[in-house]
Amino acid sequence: MKILVVGSGGREHAICLQLSKSPKIERIYCAPGNGGTLNVAQNIDILVTDFDKLAAFAKENDIDFTFVGPETPLSYGIVDYFESRGLKVIGPSRYAAKLESSKIYAKKFMQKYNIPTARYNSFEKITDAIKFVESLNKDKKIVIKADGLAAGKGVYICNNREDAFYILKHVIENYKTSGDLWKNIIFEEYIDGPELSYLIFTDGVSYSMMPASQDHKRLNDGNKGPNTGGMGAYVPVPFLATKELNKKIEIDIIRKLISGIKSEKLDYKGVLYVGIILCNSSPHVLEFNCRFGDPEAQALLPLLDTDLVDICNAILDKKLSSIKIKWKKKFSICLVLVSGGYPGYFEKKVEIKGLNSINDKFTTVFHAGTQFYNGRFITSGGRVLGITSVSEDIKSAVDKVYSSAKLVSFKNMHYRKDIGRNLLKFLKKESEGIPSE
Ligand SMILES: Nc1ncnc2c1ncn2[C@@H]1O[C@H](COP(=O)(O)OP(=O)(O)OP(=O)(O)O)[C@@H](O)[C@H]1O
Ligand SMILES: [Mg+2]
Repeated sequence: MKILVVGSGGREHAICLQLSKSPKIERIYCAPGNGGTLNVAQNIDILVTDFDKLAAFAKENDIDFTFVGPETPLSYGIVDYFESRGLKVIGPSRYAAKLESSKIYAKKFMQKYNIPTARYNSFEKITDAIKFVESLNKDKKIVIKADGLAAGKGVYICNNREDAFYILKHVIENYKTSGDLWKNIIFEEYIDGPELSYLIFTDGVSYSMMPASQDHKRLNDGNKGPNTGGMGAYVPVPFLATKELNKKIEIDIIRKLISGIKSEKLDYKGVLYVGIILCNSSPHVLEFNCRFGDPEAQALLPLLDTDLVDICNAILDKKLSSIKIKWKKKFSICLVLVSGGYPGYFEKKVEIKGLNSINDKFTTVFHAGTQFYNGRFITSGGRVLGITSVSEDIKSAVDKVYSSAKLVSFKNMHYRKDIGRNLLKFLKKESEGIPSE
């Protein structure tokens, strides 16, 4: 088979690598790809939003199916575009992608299908939003969200009414005139609790749950600093995602989600990410993403023990329920290395050193913002690399990933030192016979 993967991040590198393990693969192309996808695919210099060129390439090269990684082309309707030209493609239709591209649509969907989520209000007019904030208790903690896609930069946690006024005045007023991003302003009840990521494969009729994972959104140790696209993830999450909780999430959330997708006749063939927050241990949906999470994909896919090509074909044929998807019972931890200054301003074209010194069999380096230029790897984005280590036990997975990170260097490189700390704490408690949270 010949497959085209659309995108250029760590997620896409992980998808390309996983597909390349299939005996059914003749060739993988990645558009536009990055410095790492070069090893497992042929990079094609076409933008993710250039549907015309992507579809023409798929036709000319007899591509069997296309796997779309990032949310932007999905929210613009790449799946509709491809299917209208008879091309097979993994991903939700433009309308189904609204589960991510419109937080208002997602909230209304959750209300309609009785899926637990934080209470919210939304306003189109900034004047109404200001009136709403005026009505809040001055110490009220509240979350303000943009309706549209914001690449992880559209959510503000306001510690009190004053914060909320500041965001309304200084952030939203500036943006309100530019595009749909702040067309609707969402105010959401603040929920204080740990977060989990639950991803599923779905063909719009049935679903298969992946093991739970946990991402780390904040830039710095101890969950401090600004929100980012994600600084590291691991699978599984034994101290939180217990069998009981997984079952509860399947019944209270996933099954209702799939029946909602069916009732709304949404054309959804692909991966669906459910962002969960535990409110007094009861799961609430924070958001849906209509694609693999990044870095969750880099932690999850190395544990996949079923051919990803078979899974994609089953999804395309709406026969997902006919295959049993297996996962290795191991620990996988992905650590993200970012450019100094990210998610703010950061320098690019900085040389990356030490990649060849990582030669642990169970450690993979997933490239994100990198290019291979003049025989060297250089940085080309905020999130540069994702190092994933897999092991039978937690401790060696954490040790491997950090000892590998120490071998890599680029100027002003930053990574969190505490990814996996909770896992180790859980392990210690377990060994001392202390029950987890
Ligand atoms: N109601 C809430 N209560 C507490 N924290 C929240 C709430 N909503 C969002 N957050 C925090 O903000 C983060 C980002 O929010 P959300 O996932 O809705 O936005 P996003 O920009 O779509 O994120 P992503 O980049 O993961 O798609 C969450 O992971 C969580 O840490
Ligand atoms: Mg999102």
